[in-house]
Amino acid sequence: SLPGKVKIVEVGPRDGLQNEKESVSAAVKTELVDRLSRAGFANIEAASFVSPKWVPQMATSAEVMAAITRRAGTVYSALTPNMQGFEAALASRADEVVIFGSASEAFSQRNINCSIAESIARFESVAKAAKQNRLRLRGSISCAFGCPYQGEVPLDAVADVVGRMRDLGCDEIDIADTIGVATARQTQAVMLRAAREFRLESISGHFHDTYGQALANIYASLEVGVSIFHSSVSGLGGCPYAKGATGNVATEDVLYLMHGLGIETGINLDLVVDAGQFISAHLGRKGSSRAGNALEAK
Ligand code: HMG
Ligand code: MG
Repeated sequence: SLPGKVKIVEVGPRDGLQNEKESVSAAVKTELVDRLSRAGFANIEAASFVSPKWVPQMATSAEVMAAITRRAGTVYSALTPNMQGFEAALASRADEVVIFGSASEAFSQRNINCSIAESIARFESVAKAAKQNRLRLRGSISCAFGCPYQGEVPLDAVADVVGRMRDLGCDEIDIADTIGVATARQTQAVMLRAAREFRLESISGHFHDTYGQALANIYASLEVGVSIFHSSVSGLGGCPYAKGATGNVATEDVLYLMHGLGIETGINLDLVVDAGQFISAHLGRKGSSRAGNALEAK
């Protein structure tokens, strides 16, 4: 049977907007985060403390974190690739920090400029500091289903990084399809392999929708007991270091699926549709959520 309730982590303000050609102002990002908080998300990825030379769109993260209205019960997360990022996240009062590695050596080099082993060594101090400061710690694993540079990624490579993230003390671990190539049975195989290394209830699925498979992969994940999913309002996003990858699965579409299945999310879909229309208007284009556009047209 499927889980009765899921946690949806809204990643649009980070994964979505990090990939926009035009930088979105801190004021617009702040309003987006606040609209999403009001919709009821228990977790919003709101910031990324990375090098502004690498990802200029995230340079205003501290401003955004200072300006948002924090809703009790919402965890605001920030990406932190190293101690410099951690210090910034701590100063901005993030509730959760995210260390992000990869199951692919080639992608690790392109994305964070170091090998997998070097990244884990770098994350050790971040993990320790997170514990000392009582922040939640999440680990994200890119290219768990395929890599734009090396192609296939073996199950054991994913399992190895899951184990390392577990040993660093991660509270939650994301299995990410960075380039949206996974299909349903493969998704189940990877999730089940990850679950041999880390408790299933704290494993999340992070699916980009490049090949239109994300909802099928989410359903396949539900079938094997995964109950945390990442999505982006209006399907915003991509990854600056994964050329051609499109956005995350749209939050509106995931909510429509979950609510149709009778699975509790705690999130108000209408308010998410409004937030999607808000950000799409700012970006000057139609949103890419099918459910969002259908509900808007009603
Ligand atoms: P590096 O060049 O190896 O780092 O970059 P460095 O330590 O040698 O520092 C070089 C410069 O960067 C220095 O500045 C540092 O101060 C600065 P300079 O002296 O040249 O003026 N710097 C920083 N500035 C601000 N904040 C920091 C920071 N760290 C160093 N935290 C580094 C290594 C990791 C920093 C770099 O490669 C980087 O920023 N990469 C970012 C990659 C990124 O953000 N990718 C997108 C997010 S991951 C993703 O989207 C995938 C995910 O969604 C899951 C999925 O779908 O797969 C999570
Ligand atoms: Mg991503």
